[in-house]
Amino acid sequence: MMWSLLVSLALLCFGTVARAAVVTINWNVTWVWASPDGFGRPVIGINNQWPCPKLEVNVGDTLIVNLHNGLGNQTTGIHWHGINQLQTPEMDGPSGVVQCPTPPGSSVQYKFLLDEPGTFWYHSHEKGQYPDGLRGPLIVQDPNDPYKGRYDEEIVLTVSDWYHSQSIPLVQNMLSPANTRFAPPFPDTILLNDKKDVKFNFVKGKTYRVRLINMSAFASAFLWIDSHPLTMIMSDSTYLQTETAYQLHASSAQRYDFLISAIDRDSGNYPILVALDINRDFRNQTLAPAFPHNQTAWLMMDENAPLTRPTNTIDVWRPADDTHFKPLDNLAMIPAYDHLVKLDFRFCLDANGYPRACLNGKPFISQKVPSLYTAATVGENNTNPLVYGQINPIVVKKGDIVQLVINNQEAAGHPFHLHGHSFQVLDRARPYAGDWPGRDVNYNPVPNRRDTVTVWSWSHAVLRFRADNPGVWLFHCHIEWHVEMGLTASFIEGPEQLRGKQFPADHLENCRVGGVPTRGNAAGNELDPLDTTGMLTISPTGYTGATWIPPPANTVTTTPGNSTSSLARRRAASRVQRRDAVFENS
Ligand SMILES: *[C@@H]1O[C@H](CO)[C@@H](O)[C@H](O)[C@H]1NC(C)=O
Ligand SMILES: *[C@@H]1O[C@H](CO)[C@@H](O)[C@H](O)[C@H]1NC(C)=O
Ligand SMILES: *[C@@H]1O[C@H](CO)[C@@H](O)[C@H](O)[C@H]1NC(C)=O
Ligand SMILES: *[C@@H]1O[C@H](CO)[C@@H](O)[C@H](O)[C@H]1NC(C)=O
Ligand SMILES: *[C@@H]1O[C@H](CO)[C@@H](O)[C@H](O)[C@H]1NC(C)=O
Ligand SMILES: *[C@@H]1O[C@H](CO)[C@@H](O)[C@H](O)[C@H]1NC(C)=O
Ligand SMILES: *[C@@H]1O[C@H](CO)[C@@H](O)[C@H](O)[C@H]1NC(C)=O
Repeated sequence: MMWSLLVSLALLCFGTVARAAVVTINWNVTWVWASPDGFGRPVIGINNQWPCPKLEVNVGDTLIVNLHNGLGNQTTGIHWHGINQLQTPEMDGPSGVVQCPTPPGSSVQYKFLLDEPGTFWYHSHEKGQYPDGLRGPLIVQDPNDPYKGRYDEEIVLTVSDWYHSQSIPLVQNMLSPANTRFAPPFPDTILLNDKKDVKFNFVKGKTYRVRLINMSAFASAFLWIDSHPLTMIMSDSTYLQTETAYQLHASSAQRYDFLISAIDRDSGNYPILVALDINRDFRNQTLAPAFPHNQTAWLMMDENAPLTRPTNTIDVWRPADDTHFKPLDNLAMIPAYDHLVKLDFRFCLDANGYPRACLNGKPFISQKVPSLYTAATVGENNTNPLVYGQINPIVVKKGDIVQLVINNQEAAGHPFHLHGHSFQVLDRARPYAGDWPGRDVNYNPVPNRRDTVTVWSWSHAVLRFRADNPGVWLFHCHIEWHVEMGLTASFIEGPEQLRGKQFPADHLENCRVGGVPTRGNAAGNELDPLDTTGMLTISPTGYTGATWIPPPANTVTTTPGNSTSSLARRRAASRVQRRDAVFENS
């Protein structure tokens, strides 16, 4: 395959020498038939293959991904999870936020710097699409790895829940007034490295670095390896001071790197147990028997030896608390903050009686103009949250220190992810601790940093980060189904720096083909950005997901980036209305 060839060439040329390379990859996103657990279904793969490829690059490299949408019937777009996208917020991926959806038959180029080493992943960020398979590991190697020499080899272990049904009907069933319990779709099974039976060949006495990536759409996972303690070295992309853990709990989107030394007293085979945590309340550590989603992988040291089951099954999981891990650099808590952002999360019903997820009383509703395009085109009004519509916008000045408090006012834990940053986890209170008390006390003086944190049921977390990366960055629950319910806020970071920002021609062309306006406020009003007419304030009831609905032929002829004349503005407005009509009637 083209991509692996180029990557190997890059590795061949530069080896582990810290010299920056440009790695170019050509990906065609296509439907593929696959049956990872014996149940066949169409999945979304890359270059007619599934599982999707593992990307491996070096820190300092620039990655160019030429993505072609070969799906025929769905739009697409990719988010590079955990990558900071310094100075390239338009390459972050979320459709409707920093780019337009990529229509079938069209292409989009992503180009960005890998400024940090670590274990990352990529996934579709287009309308609940990634549970259909479009996700994979992205490993950024570090030639100056502080733990170099402490391990002999490395392996990637992905954990994912898996559904037999496609995402669109799953979300359609969820977003229905009949779903009075706000239930997300429950997975049919769990996959490890996108398979059912995974065996890792270990050599007695050798030490391995395991890069664990949770690619779930819903469930968190517990992990335990028989007789082998885990030496933690990284969480998300933050190096840790080594610490021994016996069990881990990884929520969707989180990553852990740890070392395990294959014991050398025998050449046995040891089970690696992974169990989905689908309990609503983490206080109840008993696995729900109705969802027998545990899976055993094997640490193999002798293929001829029997696979022995664990002597004692895990009845109660007691995973290590990731907020107690210490960053290797000992970076202290940022001492003060300029901006307090408090988000209360609860489920809610909209005016149509549909189940949604609300932050401070409102669900995120995708608008007509991608928010980064709004920030670039409304001039000085881009510091006014009003122009962005109901995307739960939070405007912060470049350089400000933000303290972000999440109050989880619901009965289940939720993993919250921030794009464009790692944040310090000052406090992540125990389940049922209630809301943040409003006082800055008992914070961890040397907090762990992550890009995804689990906030327990009826509890809260306090995060801090420096808003030093101008862009529009989503902050959302990484349970994909809850994103579709609206569990998202948007940081408009450094709006002054975003004024007049230019976008690549291929990105603009995709907007034109899709009939998406690229200038003006959330509703496409450019002459008067404070005119909120046409903004979406109630989520549409007819969910179509990423289904491709071509705009009427006569509406795609205007040149993108040139709707300043009133004629063009009127055209853009009518185009937008027609898009809504298509959306709501379907
Ligand atoms: C992408 O894959 C599809 C399906 O195999 C194929 O029809 C199309 O020609 C491919 N496009 C590109 C640009 O490779
Ligand atoms: C993966 O994330 C899901 C969703 O948060 C979680 O339920 C599951 O336990 C996680 N799995 C692992 C192995 O961490
Ligand atoms: C804990 O979960 C188990 C499995 O779902 C259930 O049987 C049990 O009643 C729960 N216990 C409590 C105290 O909620
Ligand atoms: C895995 O699931 C099976 C079936 O529900 C259950 O009997 C077993 O105890 C579980 N194993 C663990 C380690 O939880
Ligand atoms: C915002 O837009 C309005 C309407 O176009 C304009 O009158 C006003 O001067 C703008 N405000 C700023 C701060 O640019
Ligand atoms: C698109 O095509 C795939 C593969 O043929 C199919 O499974 C899917 O249901 C189609 N429709 C949509 C809306 O995705
Ligand atoms: C923008 O529109 C104006 C007025 O219709 C036209 O004169 C101009 O050439 C257009 N510019 C571009 C870049 O299309």
